Amino acid sequence: MKQRWSTWSLAAGALALSASAFATSPTPSNPPTPEMISFACAGCHGTNGGSAGNLMPSLASQSKTTIVDAMKKFQSGERTSSIMGRLAKGFTESDFEAMGDFFSKQKLHATNQKIDKAKAKKGADLQEANCSRCHLEDGKEGKDDTPVMASQWLPYLQMQMEMYLTGERKMPEKMAEKVKPLSKAELEALLHFYASVK
Ligand code: HEC
Ligand code: HEC
Repeated sequence: MKQRWSTWSLAAGALALSASAFATSPTPSNPPTPEMISFACAGCHGTNGGSAGNLMPSLASQSKTTIVDAMKKFQSGERTSSIMGRLAKGFTESDFEAMGDFFSKQKLHATNQKIDKAKAKKGADLQEANCSRCHLEDGKEGKDDTPVMASQWLPYLQMQMEMYLTGERKMPEKMAEKVKPLSKAELEALLHFYASVK
C-alpha cells in the first residue's frame, strides 16, 4: 500500500512539472494539441485512455463533459483524489477541454478481468432496475457528466463506491437515492457486472 502511494507521488510530481510547462510556456499562437496534452496522462491512464493499472480509471470514450467536470472538481478539491488534485492544478480550463476532446474520441477500452460470473449476472438485473437511467447501454455510453462504466477496472470501481458510501466523494443526489437502499453485496454485484461489460 505504502509503496504504491509513494510511486504515484513521484510520478505525479514529475508530471506536474510537465503539466505546468504546458500551462505556462506556449504562446497563444502555439498551444499544445490535445494529443500532446494527453501524453501527460498516458503514464497512468494508458495510451489512448486505456488504463493499464487497475486502480486508475480508463478514460477512453468518456464524454467530454465527464472529463472536464472531473478535472474541475479535482482542481477545486471538491472531488477527493490521491493524485489528480495536484495534477489538475497545473492545467487551465481550456486544457481540460482539449483533454476531453481527445479522450472522448478514443474507443472503449475492453478489459479482461477476473469477474465472478454469478455476481455479474445478479448485477445485470440490479442495474436495469436501479442505474440504467443514467448509466446508459449497460454503462457503455457516457452521457453528459456520467462516466462510462463498461469494462472499467473493478478495483477502481470498488474504491470509488467505498468513497461514495463513506462520503469522501460526493454522490449525485439522484444516484444516492438508488444506491443507499442497496446492500453491500448488491453493490458489489453491480460493480462486477459493469466491469464485465465489453
Ligand atoms: C500519476 C498517475 C496519473 C496521471 C499522470 C494522470 N492521472 Fe488521472 N487519475 C489517476 C488516478 C489514481 C485517478 C483516481 C482519482 C485519484 O485518486 O486521483 C485518476 C482519475 C482521473 C479521472 C476521473 C475518471 C473517472 O472515471 O471518474 C479523470 C477524468 C482523469 N484522471 C484525467 C486525467 C488526465 C486528463 C490526465 C492527464 C492530464 C491524467 N488524468 C493524468 C492517476 C493519474
Ligand atoms: C441520476 C443519475 C445516476 C444514477 C441513477 C446512478 N448514477 Fe452512478 N453516476 C452518475 C454520475 C453523474 C456520476 C459521476 C458523478 C461524480 O462526479 O461523482 C456517477 C458515477 C458513478 C460511479 C463512479 C464512476 C467513476 O468513473 O468514477 C460509480 C461506481 C457509479 N456511479 C455507480 C452507480 C450505481 C451502481 C448505480 C445504481 C445503483 C448508479 N451509479 C446510479 C449518475 C447516476
